[in-house]
Amino acid sequence: MLKKITTVASVVLLSALTACGSGGGGGDTGSSGGTITMGFAQVGAESGWRTANTKSIQDEAKTAGIELKFSDAQQKQENQIKAIRSYIQQKVSVIAFSPVVETGWDTVLLEAKRANIPVILTDRSIDSDDTSLYKTFLGSDFVEEGRKAGDWLVANASGPTSVVELQGTTGAAPAIDRKTGFEEKIAAKPDIKVVASQSGDFTRSGGKQVMEAFLKSQPKIDVVYAHNDDMGLGAIEAIKAAGKVPGKDIKIITVDAVKDGMQALANGEINFIVECNPLLGKQLMDLAKKVVAGEQVPERVVTVEGTFTQEQAKAALPQRQY
Ligand code: AHR
Repeated sequence: MLKKITTVASVVLLSALTACGSGGGGGDTGSSGGTITMGFAQVGAESGWRTANTKSIQDEAKTAGIELKFSDAQQKQENQIKAIRSYIQQKVSVIAFSPVVETGWDTVLLEAKRANIPVILTDRSIDSDDTSLYKTFLGSDFVEEGRKAGDWLVANASGPTSVVELQGTTGAAPAIDRKTGFEEKIAAKPDIKVVASQSGDFTRSGGKQVMEAFLKSQPKIDVVYAHNDDMGLGAIEAIKAAGKVPGKDIKIITVDAVKDGMQALANGEINFIVECNPLLGKQLMDLAKKVVAGEQVPERVVTVEGTFTQEQAKAALPQRQY
């Protein structure tokens, strides 16, 4: 998997940019008299995590005095590409986006580069050989998240264990990486086997539907590994409808730690959650200001996050922001 992160090489001079004014080349800050404008192409509204992420970006843009142009791609790459092209036409100061899938971005990002508009990847990265197409990538280490899930299972499984996996959106970085990290860790215990694995598209309804099918096709399911809370919550509905007890008859591991997931963990219906922090807004706005000013930024900013057991979820829930 090619995941090369850019080395910050091109420096955009703020003075040159402001001098361009609204009629200048791309990357100007000028349409609102020096105000930074950010074009943000969001994945969609598929999960509780995404809703919290969108709110964080909108709130923090306001606080930072950045004019935000926001679009929701409804989980379709073509919609994100259209949005990015429209931001290029509008000559925004900076483009930020969370790529629906990993591949297929080179052409549109080259257009942004030629228009001299810096791009920041947030939440998810891209798979490209051209490391000059974006300035920085802010987000979680998804492989590490998968490893944390695998570690918990290795420590808690006893005897032959049949796992079904609810994957995120096909081709999306978190789906690919969370699978990779999990498989890497469970390889230490050959008794643990992933007996079925399918995409539930990161949605609650997708998780429910796929779990219903697994319950029909699999003679023995001990564990569900869901790539996000929403799919895990959908699986809980399917497990209950099949007359089984989630968290007991079938153990559930998820990723995210949004409020609904944490509540299910506190209730004993989920057994372990790996945290993925959606509150990226403040860091994104700070990076955007630096990038537009031509300052150096780290090529990779990794989000700090932990894990939750039932007791930890109970303790954390009252202060949980999302
Ligand atoms: O890219 C982050 C993932 O996307 C979150 O885990 C998931 O809930 C979301 O849809």
